[in-house]
Amino acid sequence: MLNKLKHVLSSQYWDQKEINSIKKVIKSGQFTMSKKVNLFEKKFAKYFNSKYAVMFNSGSSANFATFFSFMFHSKINLKANDEVIIPALAWSTTYSPFYYIKAKLVLVDVDKKTLNIDIKQVIKSISKKTKLIVAVNLLGNPSDLIELKKICNKKKITLFEDNCESLGAKLNNKYTGTFGLASSTSFFYSHHMSTIEGGMVLTNNLELCNLLKQIRAHGWTRDTTKIVNKKKEYNFVIPGMNLRPTEINAAIGIEQLKKLKKIVGLKRKNYLAYYKIFSTSKYFDIIHENGINSSFVLPFILKTKYKSYLQELRKLLRKNNIEYRIIAGGSITKHPFYKYFDIKKINKLDNSNYIHNYGFVIGNHPELMINKIKIISKLMDSIFIK
Ligand SMILES: Cc1ncc(COP(=O)(O)O)c(C=O)c1O
Repeated sequence: MLNKLKHVLSSQYWDQKEINSIKKVIKSGQFTMSKKVNLFEKKFAKYFNSKYAVMFNSGSSANFATFFSFMFHSKINLKANDEVIIPALAWSTTYSPFYYIKAKLVLVDVDKKTLNIDIKQVIKSISKKTKLIVAVNLLGNPSDLIELKKICNKKKITLFEDNCESLGAKLNNKYTGTFGLASSTSFFYSHHMSTIEGGMVLTNNLELCNLLKQIRAHGWTRDTTKIVNKKKEYNFVIPGMNLRPTEINAAIGIEQLKKLKKIVGLKRKNYLAYYKIFSTSKYFDIIHENGINSSFVLPFILKTKYKSYLQELRKLLRKNNIEYRIIAGGSITKHPFYKYFDIKKINKLDNSNYIHNYGFVIGNHPELMINKIKIISKLMDSIFIK
């Protein structure tokens, strides 16, 4: 029984194809960023119907590079004290860049059903200083991107999507990650696609694409699109870094992209089975999809009446080898790093804080796990029925 129930949090969907692609790179001798990265970027941009894709060594680097690029972008000019509207429930590196930029964070609560940014609070939070809205498509679920885009267009605010957890999700038949001016993706182990470490930014904006390439590589112009000046290869134009991926990451990415549809399809089947069982649960709130959810992991939030069962539930999961974790990174307000940020406190963050305390996720793997979900459901219910 114990072995049967063993359920890990993370896995990746690799086979011999990924291994062969690594071997080919090793054989070629070209490890540092070159043609494979370029090819993967082209294929990735095409898949998502975007003009440009810029690859990074992680989703966090993709976020850092994009927010830093916004400081140098002629139409955005993000600077200290500008206000950034951002959900309180996200990942640490969705926020970290703003510490360095010295922008002010306006934290907004999440909707308890979708776990995404609450639109009513977004509208209430807009001021003359609002420069940017960050939508985090959490756990595979699209934010209300259509409404957010309307708001941003009307108020001339830039929209960015942290899509690191939601690759392959769709809203109105359009992929998440293609609604905002730019979006980030993570290819870390266990994400929809895994390239060991890796990340990508999608955008249709050429100026942003070039800034991203400059920040990715030393601040030089060498890799930029269309504005390359051969004589000035080592022309450092902005304060950049080195956030480059390797050819190995890109070669794996090319293989993973071919499987993305299948991976999302399998995860969605599991999501639908989970939804069928738990949407009527007396004990848990779960995630309700907005559009087509690509289901990163499966979340559970104890209903208020049953929150005292948290410790017992965790014990039961551990005893049965079911790995669990906090929902995304939890609420920013609950972590020690919160003290470093300049925060404009105007909203109640009750849902984010409650989800931080009483929510958890279990793995959703690209393999059919409908029976396992049924067994886990019976097991979890057993602690309430005594
Ligand atoms: C919402 C979100 N943003 C950013 C990241 C960072 O991605 P990476 O782990 O590739 O740095 C993650 C990682 O899980 C994430 O969940």
